[in-house]
Amino acid sequence: MDDWTTSHDRVLAQRNAEGWTFLLEAARDLRTTGALAPSSKALARLLTDPVDEHGAHPLNVLEAGAGTGSVTRTLIARLSLGSRLDIVEANPRFAARLRGLVRSHPHLTGERDRIRVHQAFVEDLDTDRHYDVIVSGLPFTNFTPAQVETIMGRYLELLQPGGTLTYFAYRGTRYARTLTASPAEARRHRAVEDVLAGYQRRYATGCWSVWGNLPPAKVWYLHRPADPATSAAPAVPATVTLGASR
Ligand SMILES: C[S@@+](CC[C@H](N)C(=O)[O-])C[C@H]1O[C@@H](n2cnc3c(N)ncnc32)[C@H](O)[C@@H]1O
Repeated sequence: MDDWTTSHDRVLAQRNAEGWTFLLEAARDLRTTGALAPSSKALARLLTDPVDEHGAHPLNVLEAGAGTGSVTRTLIARLSLGSRLDIVEANPRFAARLRGLVRSHPHLTGERDRIRVHQAFVEDLDTDRHYDVIVSGLPFTNFTPAQVETIMGRYLELLQPGGTLTYFAYRGTRYARTLTASPAEARRHRAVEDVLAGYQRRYATGCWSVWGNLPPAKVWYLHRPADPATSAAPAVPATVTLGASR
């Protein structure tokens, strides 16, 4: 067997194991896990693009809801030298996997102490850091509107002025819930979307669809203004490219 075959096989085996781990955790608690499978590479790239936009400048980055690390791996590979990354994951089994990922990631030789894995709910994260980029993988549409309000408020607090928050939502979930869930569940879902729409109106700078993900997803970029006086201004809808791939 040559090197390519063995490394290719290793990657496939790792993806397979990751898929099963994810499915098992979804079966245990679908509400918190929020998905049946990890995000695709295309989705991970779009979520982490703002990290590249800062060039070689060292950054403070937060990833919330990292799961088995499909976005984390892309994120780590894109971090500039000297950057610091806080990874927050509520599920203790996922958090243990993420610690393993950090220990073994080849990009991190000599940089591992700049990466911290916190097994916690992000709304309870105790830190005095502020972040240039926050990447959120949280399944907002499974939460209550009050929880989403708390988490979005906390993200905005944790962002540096001028910083960017990225997050995603699966396409079509509102329609699916209206068809399959109770009226109370459908109302909760709509109320969560209303909370998110309020943040999008104030802070969104872009929105793209990622069709190469199962299920297809929509990615949002929100920008905390450098000047607080501009935070009350509505986002400019012309910069929001709905339904386009990046
Ligand atoms: C939809 S999965 C996304 C996983 C991964 N980022 C990906 O894209 O494949 C959501 C993840 O968020 C975690 N999670 C849910 N609520 C959380 C919270 N309040 N704080 C931190 N992590 C949370 C879940 O345990 C799960 O791993």
